[in-house]
Amino acid sequence: MPHKDNNIYVGLDIGTTKICTVVARQNMEGGIDIIGLGSAPSTGIRKGVVVNIDSTVKAIKDSIAMAERMSGVTVKSVCAGIAGGHIESFNSRGVVAVKSGEVTQNDITRVLESASAINIPMGYEVLHILPQQYILDGQDEIKDPIGMSGVRLEVEVHIVTGAVSSATNITKSCSKAGIAVEDIYLEQLASSEAVLTDEEREIGVCLIDGGGGTTDMAVFNRGACYHTAVLQIGGNNFTRDLTSGLSTSESEAEKIKIAEGCVLTDLVAPDEVISVPSVGGRPPRTISKSVMAQILQARAEEICELFLGELKNKKLIDMLAAGVVMTGGMSNFKGMEELASSVLGLNVRVGHPVNIGGLSDQVNNPIYATAVGLAKLHAKNGHSQNIISSGNEESTFKQVGERMKNWLKEFF
Ligand SMILES: Nc1ncnc2c1ncn2[C@@H]1O[C@H](COP(=O)(O)OP(=O)(O)OP(=O)(O)O)[C@@H](O)[C@H]1O
Ligand SMILES: [Mg+2]
Repeated sequence: MPHKDNNIYVGLDIGTTKICTVVARQNMEGGIDIIGLGSAPSTGIRKGVVVNIDSTVKAIKDSIAMAERMSGVTVKSVCAGIAGGHIESFNSRGVVAVKSGEVTQNDITRVLESASAINIPMGYEVLHILPQQYILDGQDEIKDPIGMSGVRLEVEVHIVTGAVSSATNITKSCSKAGIAVEDIYLEQLASSEAVLTDEEREIGVCLIDGGGGTTDMAVFNRGACYHTAVLQIGGNNFTRDLTSGLSTSESEAEKIKIAEGCVLTDLVAPDEVISVPSVGGRPPRTISKSVMAQILQARAEEICELFLGELKNKKLIDMLAAGVVMTGGMSNFKGMEELASSVLGLNVRVGHPVNIGGLSDQVNNPIYATAVGLAKLHAKNGHSQNIISSGNEESTFKQVGERMKNWLKEFF
């Protein structure tokens, strides 16, 4: 059945560890009710980027089929996430003369074009232009200047760029799985949509989404986005640390990490032990939980310190009255809130998807933040006319650019 008739919106999170589909229906209040969830292990993604089309296609199909069974909806198109080390972001500003003495949509479009007229390397394109504030004849902090009288219109924006090939591989994988991509959002912007409150975004907050392959951040203040960054370290690094630290297989290390992982040695009694299967047919060994926590704490501290460095370098620390919200699988570690709070010197809470109805219990885990956020953003912004085609590198981001105006409304 066509989505449009049923107010159905689908978020597809193509993550490093899992590909996840959230099917949502827009409710009377304009919010969303979750009606289906599908998740399949992902093997074709490295650090947020598609590296194997065939296995990605298979995981997309599995994840969609599962969500279709639960929701009873046939998924035809999705809003997908994009992530990875190719993403580059920065702040920029633009200025234009107001043509008729009163600001129109056309002036807004021109001033945003002027802000995004920047040198971008070959093969990269602007993915998002997120306005922070408009300034009209020197008056700043204007959110919506349309209809206001003035001569000189300025805008300050946050610009996100990414590799066209990366977006193309997402649309190509979806197309081979039989679905169209209607929109693409930077993953941490989607996660922010799912777990942050409006008040947090207003007074200042840093979202940290710790996935399997990357850990992504987005900083908001006065309701607008001021910074985004991607750190190419994630939950898989903790697993690898345990694999070598405990001399066990990667799959056992992953299981132990999820069942027993704690990133704060203070929370573990010195005499607590766990049984660790050995490799090569040797008998299982007993390992102290405290030793395991030491290994995990070192990695968690490293990640938090890298984020602290980034926040300090960009002079963002003072913008964060609401502190930090951590989401993604990494935020599930026991002790993560306390550890992050002590390293960052800020309030930290774990973010689960909020303000959703329907089968909200099913997605009540930080690992679903991105997929829920993608469905939410899609529902808020509505369906676009242009479906991003697959395989045409030139057009992928250009069409995303066409829809830019809708996105702008979203993040303002
Ligand atoms: N309870 C838990 N304790 C510790 N780590 C966990 C827990 N649950 C999940 N993880 C880890 O979180 C990671 C998966 O998180 P998530 O599902 O958010 O990643 P992803 O979206 O697939 O990856 P990415 O966003 O990097 O592309 C894995 O490394 C997993 O081991
Ligand atoms: Mg993720």
